[in-house]
Amino acid sequence: MTVELETTAQAMVADGKGILAADESTGTIQKRFDSIGADCTEDNRRDYREMLFRASDAMTNYISGVILYDETLRQNAKDGTPISQIISDTGAIPGIKVDTGAKELAGCPGEKVTEGLDGLRERFAEYYDLGARFAKWRAVITIGDGIPSRTCIQTNAHALARYAALAQEAKIVPIVEPEVLMDGPHDIARCFEVTEAALNALYSELYTQKVHLEGTILKPNMVLSGTECGTQAGVEEVAEQTVKCLKRAVPSAVPGLCFLSGGQSDEDATAHLSAMNEMFDMPWKLSFSYGRALQAAALKAWGGKAENEAAAQSAFSHRAKMNSLAATGEWKTTLEKAA
Ligand code: 13P
Repeated sequence: MTVELETTAQAMVADGKGILAADESTGTIQKRFDSIGADCTEDNRRDYREMLFRASDAMTNYISGVILYDETLRQNAKDGTPISQIISDTGAIPGIKVDTGAKELAGCPGEKVTEGLDGLRERFAEYYDLGARFAKWRAVITIGDGIPSRTCIQTNAHALARYAALAQEAKIVPIVEPEVLMDGPHDIARCFEVTEAALNALYSELYTQKVHLEGTILKPNMVLSGTECGTQAGVEEVAEQTVKCLKRAVPSAVPGLCFLSGGQSDEDATAHLSAMNEMFDMPWKLSFSYGRALQAAALKAWGGKAENEAAAQSAFSHRAKMNSLAATGEWKTTLEKAA
């Protein structure tokens, strides 16, 4: 079992490859579709995602795995092929988001805890049969006045470890995602401090709950200035602080770290990742698991219209290629302009 987990985890961070996060819940994809004036019907959601997964240049060369939402893992493409098969035919691995969302944390105003543990063992067995070989669980940690609390950090770390242990029991690699949100006026030092605390709590819980680290992937946030902070750290400082924080807290047994984009611009998300890989030697692979930063340009080019599919696929392929270069530290801003 551990061999299968390790093989999958290593494939998820193969050289120059990263993960496409396409696991927006129905509510979140509705917001994305609203932004381009497309109807959020089940068929449209399927058509949009099928278009991405059929972008063969991006999928075969730059994408190691795709995180799906429950609905998509059960869907068939227009021609009847299961969506998960379209993904595996490109060589990428299908994955599944299994948490059921972040809810108010009792006793901790303004903070959240992620739900979805009840019945998870049975759901994992079904997801394995449907073709999923990795999973994702996202915890949300908010920085604000007097928060995050120790309660929030501990409670979320505990749930992440419960999830991770159940995933591994089902031969599914857990992506553990303790996301420290970038919203707020805090500075980069505060983001560092909170990220370090969240990661320390997480790895302590993963140890306590007997999770096999070599068969996991971490999905961290970058260490950034808050979006409303007056002083915004530049690319080199973000790279330095992020790597310093991760080196302190993430054991070298973890095969790979795939960042979330979290609301950064497409180019910032790429530039930060590339700078880290260019500037530092690290004990783990450092790659991407972007949602918005991989899809935003494609979504806009698509605009909900079938006749725009080719343009949308090339927009997606471009971002996938840029992030692939960033995963080996070879991205340059001039490559964006050339495109
Ligand atoms: P973003 O890259 O848009 O933050 O989404 C990644 C993700 O899957 C968050 O859980």
